[in-house]
Amino acid sequence: MKTQLQPKFNKDRYLDGDSVTRRIYSEASPLIPGGTSRLHYVSDPYPIYAHRGVGCRLTDVDGDERVDCLNNMTALIHGHCDPDVTTAVVDQAQLGVSFSEPSEPEIALAKLIIDRVPSVEKIHFRSSGTEAVMMAIKLARAFTGRHAIAKFEGAYHGYYDYVQLGIGSNPSNWGEARAPRSVPSSGGLSPTVTDEVVVMPFNDRSAVEQLLDKYGGKLAALLVEPLSNRSGMAQPDTGFYEFLRQITRQHDILLVFDEVIAFRLGTDGAQGRYGGSPDLTTFGKIIGGGIPIGAVGGRADVLNLLKPDAGPNMVLSGGTYSGNPLSAAAGRATLAKLDTATFARLDFLGERMRTGVNAIFQAGQQRAQATGDGSLFQIVPTDQPIENYRSVPTDPSANLWLDQFQSKLLETGVIISHRGLSCLSTAMDELVVDECLDAFEKAVSLMRKT
Ligand SMILES: Cc1ncc(COP(=O)(O)O)c(C=O)c1O
Repeated sequence: MKTQLQPKFNKDRYLDGDSVTRRIYSEASPLIPGGTSRLHYVSDPYPIYAHRGVGCRLTDVDGDERVDCLNNMTALIHGHCDPDVTTAVVDQAQLGVSFSEPSEPEIALAKLIIDRVPSVEKIHFRSSGTEAVMMAIKLARAFTGRHAIAKFEGAYHGYYDYVQLGIGSNPSNWGEARAPRSVPSSGGLSPTVTDEVVVMPFNDRSAVEQLLDKYGGKLAALLVEPLSNRSGMAQPDTGFYEFLRQITRQHDILLVFDEVIAFRLGTDGAQGRYGGSPDLTTFGKIIGGGIPIGAVGGRADVLNLLKPDAGPNMVLSGGTYSGNPLSAAAGRATLAKLDTATFARLDFLGERMRTGVNAIFQAGQQRAQATGDGSLFQIVPTDQPIENYRSVPTDPSANLWLDQFQSKLLETGVIISHRGLSCLSTAMDELVVDECLDAFEKAVSLMRKT
């Protein structure tokens, strides 16, 4: 859905003393911790509350419309209320929203993904990316007979205990660059978790070699987030994923790509873009068209451990909503509209956005940059090159800059996450990107006045 240029400025009604947002927030706070179940949406003084979304625009409860460059944390690749996705959902809802029995949309979505991603021979659906990661780890443990896992520092894989390590660390606790500490990033984790997770530095081959020489025999899986937003969307060095492919094979460790976000990069996702051919891939977000979903796909001999006759290592799976027809119908309609031409257009728009934002930061003397690839972009509060998680500033002043910049962007008409995560949708065109760039320019001048 194309949209026309609609320059508006100062969309800050949500901050007024008598705003609907403020009223809803004060009603929500005593009921829901933080006023929302999406805690990453909590921002100072409170988040905006969505009223409705159409195409690339979202209207808040105070009636202010902004360009949505977050798209439910990247899940909505066609923006809001895409007509084909909406029709698929309504049609399916009229047949039934969920059943105990398996249904045809699940199989259709499975076929679509398997046809597109060469490393995926079989697939198993879950209801969220977190569940997909959890299942990938269980499958890897059952397949290898080992229990520990490895992940990269800064990589976010959802909120399963074993991956909530090494994502919020800072210079006071992150340890040696070549052997990062497994710093817990959440309360409530069992203390034994830290002993079962090896955290590795991204883009550092010799450190990875050394850590795998030391711990490889204990590891069931190595998890990779191919374009990690908490690591400033650091690009993999040339051949890094092929290197991971070879070294994990040498150590009999399963290589798992977490493409919950990065599947946005093309018909065959990040592995098509950067190489690596993983044993397992986790999916989520866009494959459900905006309705809850997760999936783990990959080698048939690993996925077959889910079969009831798999023997003593059979992995028990459940999930009232796993493979539900509503998510599958929305996902199928979403993927059906994503061909190589569509991805090429998203790549072009993404490049226009990143180049434009970087020029604006430079002209406005902001120590910040837009990184990313394809339709994904990340605002990072540094002008230095990004190699891995440690290239991204963790100091309070950098975080404050990002928080303030995100608020200024809300005022000038663009939504991004307060951590800087942003993305485009197929509902956007060059006019919309230029409208966003205009808002970025205004936000920079507001920053210069503060
Ligand atoms: C790379 C990655 N993996 C896993 C997850 C968890 O997915 P979900 O939020 O659907 O549980 C996320 C969520 O943002 C993610 O970005």
